Amino acid sequence: MYALIRRFLFSMPAEKAHYFTFNALHLVMKIPFVRGIFNCIYSLSDPYEFVGLTFKNRVGLAAGLDKNATHLHELSALGFGFIEIGTVTPKPQAGNDKPRLFRLKQDECLINRMGFNNDGVDLIVERLKTRPKNLIVGGNIGKNKITPNELAKDDYNICFQKLYLYVDYFVVNVSSPNTPNLRELQDKAPLLAILNDLMLQRKSFMAEGLISKPILLKIAPDLSFSQIDDVIAIVKESGIDGLVATNTTISREGLLTPNSEIEAIGAGGLSGKILQNRSTEIIQYIHDKTQGQMPIIGVGGIHDAQSAVEKIKAGAGLVQVYTGFVYAGPNLVKQAAEAIKAIA
Ligand SMILES: Cc1cc2nc3c(=O)[nH]c(=O)nc-3n(C[C@H](O)[C@H](O)[C@H](O)COP(=O)(O)O)c2cc1C
Repeated sequence: MYALIRRFLFSMPAEKAHYFTFNALHLVMKIPFVRGIFNCIYSLSDPYEFVGLTFKNRVGLAAGLDKNATHLHELSALGFGFIEIGTVTPKPQAGNDKPRLFRLKQDECLINRMGFNNDGVDLIVERLKTRPKNLIVGGNIGKNKITPNELAKDDYNICFQKLYLYVDYFVVNVSSPNTPNLRELQDKAPLLAILNDLMLQRKSFMAEGLISKPILLKIAPDLSFSQIDDVIAIVKESGIDGLVATNTTISREGLLTPNSEIEAIGAGGLSGKILQNRSTEIIQYIHDKTQGQMPIIGVGGIHDAQSAVEKIKAGAGLVQVYTGFVYAGPNLVKQAAEAIKAIA
């Protein structure tokens, strides 16, 4: 069934297909009983404790697909154990010029240079006031393009503070390749400054009687192992709760798609199957280095049940999908969640 839908969607430019799917999902779910039917087909219960929260199952939707929290109700009927919104920035921004999302069909990959297009934290908070209550929602936060890196921590602080009551956990995104110089924030001094500030804010919220919200850091797959060692040290020093590994890569190695096509697409983050091994390798590395003590959300190249299980075996507590979901549809979510449940 999804093969037919995909053929139709893939006849459109990638970003257009994305909005078309969102609109179609919204309309279909309005038909009486349809959401319930989807729930029956796709939902899978496999409660799992991670960073102090209980997740419905261990397969989530990665950041970037529902950046603006516009379709949480519809997406929650497709079986996800949790959904990460964002990346959210303080002010709304349009992102990069279109086209900015490309399919590499042969490789089952995507290249994107969206550039944190989003509606801004204030509008997103309004939407989150009516979010599904029975679903864990993460808030992935970033900085506006016009904010210089020296002031980046103010942007993270603003998003954190405004979203605090409305999401269940936070992901600090300093690893997108599509905001100029953002990845420099992965260096020790700026990263510690951002994380320490968020931890202080969290403490003051807790002093006011609010519950603690877990904070995770999302890292790039292009970090060297010695840079990952630094990141592990920073996570420990700051006291944040864990890592999301990984974001998209700037590498173009190992693709089947002809070079000329890849060059014509230009800059952007590569996601999908090609990322599978690198992101699993990083998860395994962090797991081993921390004797299994670091909570990790594993993401990158999950395209079937096996590749999801592989990430859990490497040390991820939870996994997320994006590109695999685009190529394989909602069946992937249930199949992955079932396979993970079976090995537990
Ligand atoms: C079109 C697109 C937009 C994305 N936007 C974001 C984003 O805003 N923030 C973020 O942290 N990751 C973003 N990502 C990265 C994904 O969350 C994920 O880390 C990455 O795609 C690897 O997983 P995958 O191979 O399952 O796609 C985006 C990915 C894609 C394909």
